[in-house]
Amino acid sequence: MTILVTGARGAVATELIALLRQRGLPVRPASSRPTDPSIATCDLTDPSTFRGVLAGVSSIFLYAESSHIDAFVKEAVTAGVEHIVLLSSSAVLAPDAEANPLAKHHLDVEHALTAAPIRSTMLRPGAFAGNALAWSWPIKAGAPVSLPYPQSYNDPIHEADLAEAAAAVLADPTLSGRAYTLTGPEPITCAGQIDILSRVTGQDIAIRNVTREEWKAEMAEYVSGPIADALLDWQRSNDGVPTEITTDVERLIGRPGRTFAAWAQEHAAAFTR
Ligand SMILES: NC(=O)c1ccc[n+]([C@@H]2O[C@H](COP(=O)([O-])OP(=O)(O)OC[C@H]3O[C@@H](n4cnc5c(N)ncnc54)[C@H](OP(=O)(O)O)[C@@H]3O)[C@@H](O)[C@H]2O)c1
Repeated sequence: MTILVTGARGAVATELIALLRQRGLPVRPASSRPTDPSIATCDLTDPSTFRGVLAGVSSIFLYAESSHIDAFVKEAVTAGVEHIVLLSSSAVLAPDAEANPLAKHHLDVEHALTAAPIRSTMLRPGAFAGNALAWSWPIKAGAPVSLPYPQSYNDPIHEADLAEAAAAVLADPTLSGRAYTLTGPEPITCAGQIDILSRVTGQDIAIRNVTREEWKAEMAEYVSGPIADALLDWQRSNDGVPTEITTDVERLIGRPGRTFAAWAQEHAAAFTR
């Protein structure tokens, strides 16, 4: 009864591996680029890594990589896997999901899993609290944070809550076989997040209101054009509009999710000059 956790270097997987071990469950951490010999190799873009890592596995925590998902599912069926928990995205719920680059690969993986003779559970988070780390370098440098839509709302979810939700679903079969839309406990604007970071670090943090084109130029090295446009469109659609908060995190972990302020306290060093 081994649980394969893909993406072992990621924030969610790292927390999940620790939680499953605390519960005494047998875990096989796997990464596309293992950093030490205790971590197996599972590169979801390389089917030659699938068979070996799936041997003896009953459940999987899966990152959404669609390029070889049919081959992955086929090997999982052959290996006798019973349950796959997918780290998907609430972007799949958007009306334009098929055409939206933020949603499409998640949707393709969801479809492949739904069609497979394996029980699957979709975890659909909105924005990760950790996305705020993208602001750490200007804040540390004492520079203003560039925001195209300062009053755009999101519902940042703490990655540790996401890991707890995944652990709950992996440990309790009665919770499996459905989709969960996972949000943080409160809607908050980008400017509100900056206020919290300012309070927590005791530093003044300025906001520079930039145009879409200015933001895209600034982010060009990290975010490709279509993804940048999709992110900007998503921010625009939430500009001044609080996002809807769900109760799915509480339902899975038995308490409300951690606030963005709690995340900021834990990560204050990453923003402190
Ligand atoms: N950030 C958000 O707001 C957000 C919102 C909704 C959904 N999501 C989903 O959550 C995922 C993680 O987001 P993140 O922001 O934490 O990204 P991240 O820090 O860049 O983490 C990427 C993760 O993907 C894994 N990965 C990358 N290439 C892989 C491959 N070829 N095979 C297997 N695993 C691979 C990495 O694990 P290894 O390097 O160990 O292989 C790592 O765990 C996203 O990919 C997305 O599907 C994110």
